[in-house]
Amino acid sequence: MIILKNRDEIRKMRESGRIAAQVRDEIARRVSPGVTTGELDAAAASLMASMGATSAFLGYHGYPGNICISIDSEVVHGIPGGRRIELGQIVSLDIGVVFDGFVGDTATTVMVGVTDPEVIRLVRATEMALAAGVDKARAGNRLGDLSHAVEERVVNAGFSVVRDFVGHGIGRKMHEDPQIPNYGTPGRGPKLKVGMTLAIEPMVNMGEAAVEVLADGWTVRTMDRKPSAHFEHTVAIGEDGPEILTVP
Ligand code: MF3
Ligand code: CO
Ligand code: CO
Repeated sequence: MIILKNRDEIRKMRESGRIAAQVRDEIARRVSPGVTTGELDAAAASLMASMGATSAFLGYHGYPGNICISIDSEVVHGIPGGRRIELGQIVSLDIGVVFDGFVGDTATTVMVGVTDPEVIRLVRATEMALAAGVDKARAGNRLGDLSHAVEERVVNAGFSVVRDFVGHGIGRKMHEDPQIPNYGTPGRGPKLKVGMTLAIEPMVNMGEAAVEVLADGWTVRTMDRKPSAHFEHTVAIGEDGPEILTVP
């Protein structure tokens, strides 16, 4: 069941989205060689606290971090710890906050002095695929139109969409219906309506689509160990089209 939000609820989600985006951008700024992922996680936790928000991830199905940090061939759900960021890496940050009862969820991939043109192209293509999906988040479209738009961008760039993990509806809970695959068929799936709030999040692999979960029970990595990028926005469908809520 897809939960529609009224104007008041959207107003609250705008606040959680803004906080999530501010944490995302501040942590992205701090990603640099030598910093540990645990330090970034602690900084995110204190930023959230300073804005009266809490992590939507900490304790979720037992998840041990405040944010997710996934490096290079790691796709999503990397657990922060003692690892140091190095020059040439791509670092995906996934940030979810709860504020006033509503969740905001957003992700970005930061390039740390990356010079490999193919890696730069991967990151840019993933960000553009998210933009293409967001643009289809309009009342009257179907979910398959959105999913297909993301997939088309990725395939045209010569990369692969991760199929084992998907985007999702979002609201009082981080994961609500519907699931939002980053692949699909135009004209299929539920009709999009004003008041829907969606977390759209392409995960894009340079090589094959296949992924595996590591022994820590969380970290998702590409099977072929080639790099993967991830971008995510929380979006509300308004009368006039999509509104990205995860903006600072
Ligand atoms: N934020 C992720 C998503 O985009 C989910 C994180 S799972 C957690 O759906 F366990 F790390 F919280
Ligand atoms: Co997320
Ligand atoms: Co999400």
